[in-house]
Amino acid sequence: MLHKLLQPYQQYGNLHYGEGVTELAHALQAAHLAQEAGENESMIAAALLHDYGHLIHGLGENVAEWGVNANHEMVGANALEKWFPTCVTEPIRWHVEAKRYLCSTEMGYFDNLSPASVLSLQLQGGAMNPEELEEFSTLPFTKEAIRLRRYDDQSKSPSANPPDLLTYYPVLKSLLVK
Ligand SMILES: [Fe+2]
Repeated sequence: MLHKLLQPYQQYGNLHYGEGVTELAHALQAAHLAQEAGENESMIAAALLHDYGHLIHGLGENVAEWGVNANHEMVGANALEKWFPTCVTEPIRWHVEAKRYLCSTEMGYFDNLSPASVLSLQLQGGAMNPEELEEFSTLPFTKEAIRLRRYDDQSKSPSANPPDLLTYYPVLKSLLVK
């Protein structure tokens, strides 16, 4: 089952999607940061899989550069629902909204986004307005989505050397819903 889940990383993990690291390196760095921060297994898995939608949406590597919002967070969360509980899928579903939230609420957050994140932000609706901020705050897993967003933002280092995918098999296995 894990082989099927992780097959997109074997097939497309070497793609970049506008960042200076591959999708696989980005995923492994995010998972490692979550682990180092003392997160539980569901958040480590969410960090590892948060861009799963990029690997499976089938719209190509540079979709944001063409002005297309692939809604990768929804695509990924929906696909992962058959394998994982909501504590894994919902932070993933809302990690783009968390970026929009932080752009509105945290001084300096926008300035530190990667160029690719700035580009996609415009396609994703930009910084949240007051109504959107209120709505986002009432969602389940808002705090987890924000923490996931920070691991995401910090996982774009070309020189990082995180543990490999195999390291996370036990974590993923422990969370599988069937
Ligand atoms: Fe990401």
